[in-house]
Amino acid sequence: MRTEQPKVIHLKDYQAPDYLIDETHLTFELFEDHTLVHAQLVMRRNPQLGMDLPPLVLDGQQLELLSLSLDDHLLTPAEYQLDDSQLTLQPPHSEFVIDSSVRIHPESNTALEGLYKSGSMFCTQCEAEGFRKITYYLDRPDVMSKFTTTVMAEQQRYPILLSNGNPLASGADDQGRHWATWEDPFMKPAYLFALVAGDLWCVEDSFTTMHQREVALRIYVEPENIDKVQHAMDSLKKSMKWDEEVYGREYDLDIFMIVAVNDFNMGAMENKGLNIFNSSCVLAHAETATDAAHQRVEAVVAHEYFHNWSGNRVTCRDWFQLSLKEGFTVFRDSQFSADMNSATVKRIEDVAYLRTHQFAEDAGPMAHPVRPDSFIEISNFYTLTIYEKGSEVLRMIHTLLGAEAFRQGSDLYFERHDGQAVTCDDFVKAMEDASGSDLTQFKRWYSQAGTPRLSVSDSHDAQAGTYTLTFKQSCPATPGQSEKLPFVIPVELGLLDSKGQPLALRLQGEAQATGDNRVLSVTEAEQSFTFVDVAEKPLPSLLRGFSAPVKLSFPYSRDQLMFLMQHDSDGFNRWEAGQQLAVQVLQELVGQQQRGVAMAMDERLVKALCSVLNNEQLDPAMVAEMLSLPSEAYLTEISEEADVEAIHAAREFARKRLADDLFEPLWQRYQDARVQSRKQAYVAEASHFARRALQNMALSYLMLTEKPKVLTACLEQYEACDNMTERLTALAVLVNSPFEAEKAATLANFAERFKDNPLVMDQWFSVQAASTLPGGLERVQALMQHPAFTLKNPNKVRALIGAFAGQNLINFHRADGSGYRFLADLVIQLNALNPQIASRQLSPLTRWSKYAPERRQMMRNELERILASGELSSDVYEVVSKSLV
Ligand code: TRP
Ligand code: ZN
Repeated sequence: MRTEQPKVIHLKDYQAPDYLIDETHLTFELFEDHTLVHAQLVMRRNPQLGMDLPPLVLDGQQLELLSLSLDDHLLTPAEYQLDDSQLTLQPPHSEFVIDSSVRIHPESNTALEGLYKSGSMFCTQCEAEGFRKITYYLDRPDVMSKFTTTVMAEQQRYPILLSNGNPLASGADDQGRHWATWEDPFMKPAYLFALVAGDLWCVEDSFTTMHQREVALRIYVEPENIDKVQHAMDSLKKSMKWDEEVYGREYDLDIFMIVAVNDFNMGAMENKGLNIFNSSCVLAHAETATDAAHQRVEAVVAHEYFHNWSGNRVTCRDWFQLSLKEGFTVFRDSQFSADMNSATVKRIEDVAYLRTHQFAEDAGPMAHPVRPDSFIEISNFYTLTIYEKGSEVLRMIHTLLGAEAFRQGSDLYFERHDGQAVTCDDFVKAMEDASGSDLTQFKRWYSQAGTPRLSVSDSHDAQAGTYTLTFKQSCPATPGQSEKLPFVIPVELGLLDSKGQPLALRLQGEAQATGDNRVLSVTEAEQSFTFVDVAEKPLPSLLRGFSAPVKLSFPYSRDQLMFLMQHDSDGFNRWEAGQQLAVQVLQELVGQQQRGVAMAMDERLVKALCSVLNNEQLDPAMVAEMLSLPSEAYLTEISEEADVEAIHAAREFARKRLADDLFEPLWQRYQDARVQSRKQAYVAEASHFARRALQNMALSYLMLTEKPKVLTACLEQYEACDNMTERLTALAVLVNSPFEAEKAATLANFAERFKDNPLVMDQWFSVQAASTLPGGLERVQALMQHPAFTLKNPNKVRALIGAFAGQNLINFHRADGSGYRFLADLVIQLNALNPQIASRQLSPLTRWSKYAPERRQMMRNELERILASGELSSDVYEVVSKSLV
């Protein structure tokens, strides 16, 4: 906890490290009430900076220094300076060895950063700056070292002792303690260090690399979870193969390990050779994990594995470059998921998520560029902007250069920078050099924050047979950036004639048409493109596949949107047309609600969704996506000033109308799918995901009609299904229904059935926290008293508090401000336990500028109250103080 004003760190102040650490030898003695860490650092002056010997400043926090030697000479306190974050001493020569011993307390570490205990297991989380809570060190990513690690612990309690790299030796003493030594041959920064000790079981497999090397694969879990590991193992093997085939990347150690832990601040961590995962991102079994959870496991396993190259072999020079590894790795895992499942559905999910959440971040007080200029607490910058927008930036490079040149660029990047700590500029340079293109202007995507707006207009000259599209781009001001320069915006597009057929595309000045789909590069504030040989006025299909993360507007009529829904050859844009139609219809309903006139819904939405529902040719997963109306959070994001009640009322009204009017086709498709689900045992595979997605989407509409036969079907599905996807949806729709007796009985049944499975109980909490029926806050408060709930477990906090404040907008934004007060109280409590989690839970309050004055004021008051509540962590301080300007 800080007392004085926290320091702001600026990218422009970057300086190379004065000293290097060639070797790091660590010994951990783990005990129940403390841990001893002995570190031997083989160091030298950074030869690039001269031969003088400036003071050596090591990072260290919450460490009790027991002894310190320099070249075997024990130092007295007079020979070094120590404060609560640094240890400073004077090196005698340009090469020297430091030995330190410190005492730390993993057993009481609730921040889950550094070395900590999750249940009975010891584990670490060092990214971004957690290693300094383990030993005195140069805890920065551009200091790379060769690590050897010895772990010593009681044999009975901790039979498994793991660290990075390959196992070197092990042994036992006669006091019931044993040890193991691991050696990692690759130079790595300290944030990739990991240690695990516990009573774990593992599933073992192996992978033969492209050069015929055998790699042992092990996934370690607590014994009771050993039956839930196969899906992660399959995902790992698929990832290893895919990275060889698509990026030419081969694994480099003899062993690759994953360990699942229950208490973890994020999804997972790519520590070299020893990935540590939130158990929610490893464990998957039909009966306990939904289809979405299965897909998340596959994606996160891939993400962390891909980091072995994009992050570990080539790492970041400093934390401002975080998106260098995260944006690239998210892009890689999204390509992988697209290849493993339905590419269009994956793109739809990613875009819906980006537009709802990243766009909101980019429009709020924490908005920052993909490469930030400054931060107070780096943990606050593991954001949707760094990850998701960062991935979009890479996707645009891929679109502009083409797949082949992009691959050459990535090959060059990995070859040129293997073993180095580099910058986003280095990455772009490799892309430029390999492709011969100039990305100078494109790089504004790294430095300018905010979501660009792109408004498009068109005109047709029948006489000349020309069709002109005019693009105007602008970008709103964001904190610290009032003026923005034009971006390079790749706009993938096609033109449809009046029969829905694609037109051959030929721009003025081109000798001939080239295909019916192309990418225009919009680079100026205002820019026109004229197509020739266009006899009749076409309908443009713009920004296909969401080719750039912008807010596009084009004055489509509702009939034109319905036409695109039917005829566009781009699957993503068919969905997008449906979403835009729904947005228009919903916004009209919101307006009616606000004016106090009875809501009347445009029939065309019913008609459009009816034909989607009757289209047997369409992938059922696409049908489900097209049936799902834009979320309240998205409708909020696109509003100037969001009217919480009107948005909720309008959307619910539309859902009920659709359920009533489309009852028959919904019922038909539900029944067909349910029959299939009953016949076929669960398979975690795209066509099965698709069937269940449609089945569950249909059920959630059908239940709104409150018909007895739907209730019966829902209860039958709950009881008779063999998987969590069907069971959880049945529970969720009951929880949102007025059938109180069935709801209570089913909730009780579910809790009894799964009381021993914390991840399933998380789902049980979430479903209730997200229920938009009145009284949501009281329900959440009651659930906090449930024996399975604890504020110390991040998954529990996310399941209950996160789901309530993030998804249950109508209850969280209750007009009396009690939702805000509740969240602020929790943040104050969490601040003392786990600053990273506290700061993340805060984000709904930072969105105050979207709401009407009374709500704004109440939200700001709660932020003020947090600020005045006492000693804040730098994490919470940064978000609260930036949100209040
Ligand atoms: N690098 C991790 C990833 O793959 C992110 C991460 C895991 C993290 N745990 C963390 C970041 C704790 C900050 C704090 O995305
Ligand atoms: Zn990552």
